[in-house]
Amino acid sequence: MRASVLSDWLAQRLDRGNGQPIYRQLHRLLQQAILSRELPAGTKVPSSRLLAAELGIARNTVTQVFEQLVLEGYVTSATGRGTFVAESAPDEIVGSFDAALEQTSFAPAATSAEPALSVRGARLIAGAGVSKRQGGAFMPGVPDVSRFPARVWSRLHTKYWRRPRPDLLTYAPGGGLALLRHVLADYLHTARSVRCTPGQIIITTGIHQSVDLAVRLLSDPGDLIWTEDPCYWGVRSVLHVSGLQSRPIPVDDEGINPSPADLAAPPKLMLVTPSHQYPLGMVMSLARRRMLLEYARQNQCWIIEDDYDSEYRYGSRPLASLQGLDTAGQVIYVGSFGKTLFPGLRVGYIVVPEALAESFATASAELYREGQLLQQAVLAEFIAEGHFTSHIRKMRTLYGQRRQTLLDAAAQRYGSAFSAVGGDAGLHLVMQLPDGTDDRAVAAAALKRNIVVRALSGYYAEPANAPSGLLLGYACVPDDEIVPAFNTLADAVDETLSQLA
Ligand SMILES: Cc1ncc(COP(=O)(O)O)c(C=O)c1O
Repeated sequence: MRASVLSDWLAQRLDRGNGQPIYRQLHRLLQQAILSRELPAGTKVPSSRLLAAELGIARNTVTQVFEQLVLEGYVTSATGRGTFVAESAPDEIVGSFDAALEQTSFAPAATSAEPALSVRGARLIAGAGVSKRQGGAFMPGVPDVSRFPARVWSRLHTKYWRRPRPDLLTYAPGGGLALLRHVLADYLHTARSVRCTPGQIIITTGIHQSVDLAVRLLSDPGDLIWTEDPCYWGVRSVLHVSGLQSRPIPVDDEGINPSPADLAAPPKLMLVTPSHQYPLGMVMSLARRRMLLEYARQNQCWIIEDDYDSEYRYGSRPLASLQGLDTAGQVIYVGSFGKTLFPGLRVGYIVVPEALAESFATASAELYREGQLLQQAVLAEFIAEGHFTSHIRKMRTLYGQRRQTLLDAAAQRYGSAFSAVGGDAGLHLVMQLPDGTDDRAVAAAALKRNIVVRALSGYYAEPANAPSGLLLGYACVPDDEIVPAFNTLADAVDETLSQLA
């Protein structure tokens, strides 16, 4: 968030009617903005005079809050120069956050309607990226659920429900249904070159839960994890809330690109999207894959491979997984049926090295008390009867056509001035905007016209210094809506760019 929009952001959240003193609300909101890096280190905060005037509150209140934030180390203040967000990483501040809150001179007992969240809870909510909208043009990451072969699915369900087996209606044994693990092992071997036995597969509710499980079992709070910069906000939140110290590592054309300084401090875990970098779309080169695997072997770190949508490539064949190249057992492979079947199914899988399989299966049952075995039986038969691969084949053709329709609409409107990345695979592309454009303002303008796009900068650790762009998901947009929706979006883009100029 740029400092210039801070007062709007605060004004939307300050609530005079909720019974909490304004200084307490302001204090907490500023803490949240800094902890979530919405206000990055070094940002100059507007003066107390300006902020007070823009928020319509007493200047004394703002001054008191600034003084408290200085005491707690969130901001620094230099006479004559102003107030700046402290350079220390939020993670370092978090350790002293509880103590600082207790010492705060204005810590009246919470009487508000909203109970106080924990530090990590507040960080999670402040940085949340989840949207209430889950469809429509151009929602990224959502497949066309209307094309799902419901009749086949319903036939299989009916078959199992006609004579329900008691063992399918109880809790799952750790790891999920054996039949599903068998058919998945075959599929993953053929389609993704994953090398595993059925016993190495644990069925989960999706990639979010798989990453949560891996993080809980393989790291402790405070351990270092590398994430790609940019990366998927959902998984980043899972890591943050686990208390991991994450280091965003830039990506280049070959994927994650750690510097010599990064390499000198090996992480416990790293999270990568080698088949299709999210959200920029590049494929990790073979040289980079070999380098990462060798580094992980030498430094005993785990690589979590997020293979969330590799089935959709338009032109080239999907690349083999990183897991298939791993000879030292350092890779944890995670995948999902969310993009290939439908997101609401909530079925995914995690493939772990043999030596970890029993612990992962036990932990999964212990933590999540799994069930849904009847649904897993339906899914296993759906795959075994060939409906899964045939559905993917049809959807790949459909999404490839929609992608082309979108590119044609963009070329029609902007000619060679339109530039996009990541469009040759997956369910979205990234439309690039001129450097320095506030892409969140563009996304907000589009939303007013009922078009959902996500701002690229929001996927970076430091949005204020990130490239500007928009993620456009085309998979869930009906063919005849793509061109009018793109033109509506383009109107919003052009109008915002002219206002910002
Ligand atoms: C890179 C990436 N990983 C994981 C997910 C979510 O996976 P799941 O729905 O299985 O939790 C997404 C969803 O868009 C994603 O983009």
